[in-house]
Amino acid sequence: MKTENKKEVVTTTDIKLAQKESYNALLSGNRQWVNEQLKADPDYFKKLAKGQSPGVLWIGCSDSRVPANQITSTKPGEVFVHRNIANVCSHSDMNMLSVLDYAVNVLKVKHVIVAGHYGCGGVAAALSHKQFGLIDNWLRHIKDVYRLHSHELDRITDNETKVNRLVELNVMEQAYNLCKTTIIQNAWKERSDLEVHGWIIDIKSGLIKDLKVTTGGPDILGYVYELNSEELAVH
Ligand code: CO
Repeated sequence: MKTENKKEVVTTTDIKLAQKESYNALLSGNRQWVNEQLKADPDYFKKLAKGQSPGVLWIGCSDSRVPANQITSTKPGEVFVHRNIANVCSHSDMNMLSVLDYAVNVLKVKHVIVAGHYGCGGVAAALSHKQFGLIDNWLRHIKDVYRLHSHELDRITDNETKVNRLVELNVMEQAYNLCKTTIIQNAWKERSDLEVHGWIIDIKSGLIKDLKVTTGGPDILGYVYELNSEELAVH
């Protein structure tokens, strides 16, 4: 019994040491990155500190394998980023709406990209019937996407194929959700250089697939979603 307890203590210490090492690795990794940037350009951080004018808003999944900058070979300052589980764009999410409003109306980005990825754990979880806790409420948005496309998805028997098709449909629906917002609709009335796109990252190849659902105006909106600023309710 004594030996067992001792073994357990050693194991816990090992885990704690490994955790500390991985934590410290982030800080030493940062110092290494800073040195590399300064070596290439001694004024790099002086320039970066002056401000940002990214041309793109990236709304992606929180999955650690799909970081916007690395995947697109872009540098700090080039992409404004919002990420959440399964890249959901919900019109009641103040976080997403605030990021969208700031990106569109202050930064004046020209491209808003919803970037999903094949093998998305959030989408796979939404396809299951297990309870995961609080997140079930978030995943409900994806179950709603399933219901809209159940005629197609019900016919797919292979689970991986089904997950990946739902990943695609989810991106399309979330991009459409962005177009429904007053933020995007009002911006289209003011300027013609704002586009909403839907992309998929194939983690197995690293390549991005453009779903070709790019929208640059309100034509695709169903009538029910059209909101006219001239018709503000006055009482
Ligand atoms: Co994901």
